[in-house]
Amino acid sequence: MSVLPIVGLNRNTLEMSGTALRQKSSPLDAGNSLVMSQAQQLIQDMFETMYSTPWGGVGLAAPQVGVLWRLAIVDADRFADKLKSEKRAPFVLINPEITDTSEEKEIDREACLSLSFWAGKVERSRRILVKYIDHLNNECNLEAEGYLARVIQHEIDHLDGIIYADRLGDYSKLFAGVLPGIRERDTTLARLYPEVKSTTR
Ligand code: NI
Repeated sequence: MSVLPIVGLNRNTLEMSGTALRQKSSPLDAGNSLVMSQAQQLIQDMFETMYSTPWGGVGLAAPQVGVLWRLAIVDADRFADKLKSEKRAPFVLINPEITDTSEEKEIDREACLSLSFWAGKVERSRRILVKYIDHLNNECNLEAEGYLARVIQHEIDHLDGIIYADRLGDYSKLFAGVLPGIRERDTTLARLYPEVKSTTR
């Protein structure tokens, strides 16, 4: 397993179209065993990459490590307090499709491993139905709500070249989002990004 470099944008490069983060990813051919064995390797590397980040990622999509496949991993239990009764093991979404969404929306804070130091309040469907293939090549249907539904929507957006900041309507609505895990790094961050104050919302 290896930790992969995460493709990142910053506040000033959000609109740039050149990176993998701004491309539409292609479905995996789940019937092709060579593709699926490559996917297995990638999945392991993605988990290792996500767990190696000091910011506490709860999901990672393949384009974030430069691979334009419709594949994402989710471990939303890392912030279990947000999940209440929705605890579940880390899982893999291959070729995910949202097949139904609730009328009801919810606004909550989001951040992204590809847009360090920022956060925003994003409106998402409160409940979704998602169809996907898991890491064992099983077809799955999952009904998710709340925080889990939010994380899945965020990851699927990545597969379409969408960053959560795009959903704010205006990038000026981003705020400095230093996660609790990196508070101790504030001094370094403040030097690197003078515009980021050490606020947590
Ligand atoms: Ni993200």
